[in-house]
Amino acid sequence: MKYLIGNFKMNKTFLEVESYIEALSFLIEENKENLNNINIGIAPSFDSVYLSYNNSERNFLFGLQNIFHEINGAYTGEVSLNVAKEANIDFILLGHSERRKLFNETDEEINKKILKLKDTNIKPILCIGESIDDFNNNKTFDVLNKQLDKALENVNEFGNIIISYEPVYCIGNGIIPKVEHVQSVVNFIHEKFSSNIPVLYGGSVCSNSIEDLEKVKGLSGYLVGKASLNAYEFIELAKEIK
Ligand code: PGA
Repeated sequence: MKYLIGNFKMNKTFLEVESYIEALSFLIEENKENLNNINIGIAPSFDSVYLSYNNSERNFLFGLQNIFHEINGAYTGEVSLNVAKEANIDFILLGHSERRKLFNETDEEINKKILKLKDTNIKPILCIGESIDDFNNNKTFDVLNKQLDKALENVNEFGNIIISYEPVYCIGNGIIPKVEHVQSVVNFIHEKFSSNIPVLYGGSVCSNSIEDLEKVKGLSGYLVGKASLNAYEFIELAKEIK
């Protein structure tokens, strides 16, 4: 089974997400013969979480873009895992590079969040990726190794975890890494854990780039930003996944 996950970031109001969901459900149903090997998911911003609760019989996955590492308490502005559970959330993105860079999220915090998800059915999608400087200085694997070790410290059970490789310099700008580079990262993660751990790729995935990315062996799908914002475009992308 493969994954195509849309990260809406801070785009779309809850009414826009509601219309999107209507279109997405219809398109998935209409194209179900072509999509039977793929889990399609969306992660709108938090204000749309009730749409997950209202659509518990849905034909797609519903995720969040972040969560806090405590269940409740005096944490103004944060989002509790209890809300995610109550709303039937399927997955939560953790450690996206925008959160690391703009909100100073650390590997240690990401680790706490992953540990909190341990006894739930909610899948953590752990985002990792090197910067352009790391890449140019041949530090890619050191950086990824460190991010993985720290984020997954004391995590003994990997059954639920998905890893998304997102080179920071490829996000939102149309730049795609070489197939060989993505392949070497997928191999590295599979050697480090097991070949069963799903590895996604994220960063400028669109109808022009997916054909090349589909050449990467062992890749379990994609985390998509911009090209997920239109439900029709998103479904066309899903149809490209073999
Ligand atoms: P993009 O974003 O597809 O717009 O490059 C990907 C991501 O941030 O996960």
